[in-house]
Amino acid sequence: MFSLNKLCPTITNMIRFDHSHVMVTFHQYEKDKSPRVKKALADTICDALEIHATLEEEIFYPVMRQRDAGEPFIHKAEPEHMEMRRMIDELRRTSGADPRHDKLVMELMRDVMHHVADEETTLLPHAEAKLSRDMLTDMGAKMTRRRLELVGPKAGKLAKEHAVGFSGSAAAVVVGLASALFAAKAFGPKKPWKSSPA
Ligand SMILES: [Fe+2]
Ligand SMILES: [Fe+2]
Repeated sequence: MFSLNKLCPTITNMIRFDHSHVMVTFHQYEKDKSPRVKKALADTICDALEIHATLEEEIFYPVMRQRDAGEPFIHKAEPEHMEMRRMIDELRRTSGADPRHDKLVMELMRDVMHHVADEETTLLPHAEAKLSRDMLTDMGAKMTRRRLELVGPKAGKLAKEHAVGFSGSAAAVVVGLASALFAAKAFGPKKPWKSSPA
């Protein structure tokens, strides 16, 4: 039987895509850029990380804890997310013109990279070994629905930050294209395409 879920990415691939998006944004951050652009890039990173951590905490980690409570790396994530949120608060309160801004972005990203490395080399392969493909795509669909709820109220702000942060950057095209392709895969065509009557 046809299932819309087959068109949806798995939750593990969605998590990898979120990580890549944050990394591409971080790679745009340069000390010599204007305070306005640096602030917009930092805001994009902070918003993306907060939404991503909430999605993992609500949808991914509870299932993994239930399946495999004995695995220590599953329990490391929560305190690491809490520390990340503390650093995000501090970064948000710091002006892009403040010399501490660069340092805070680097500290946040150093921690994020360690956390992402643990998730991508240990937890995600573990989830893919333990959970069925159907379960992973069901969780991916849940993540997409919840993401829309979280992003909806701040969609305008996110788009503006992204436009300022990526202004004049070729990476904006790459990120935009990748997001469009990913969204097309995530939402899929509900019905076969039909031409409208002339
Ligand atoms: Fe995480
Ligand atoms: Fe993650």
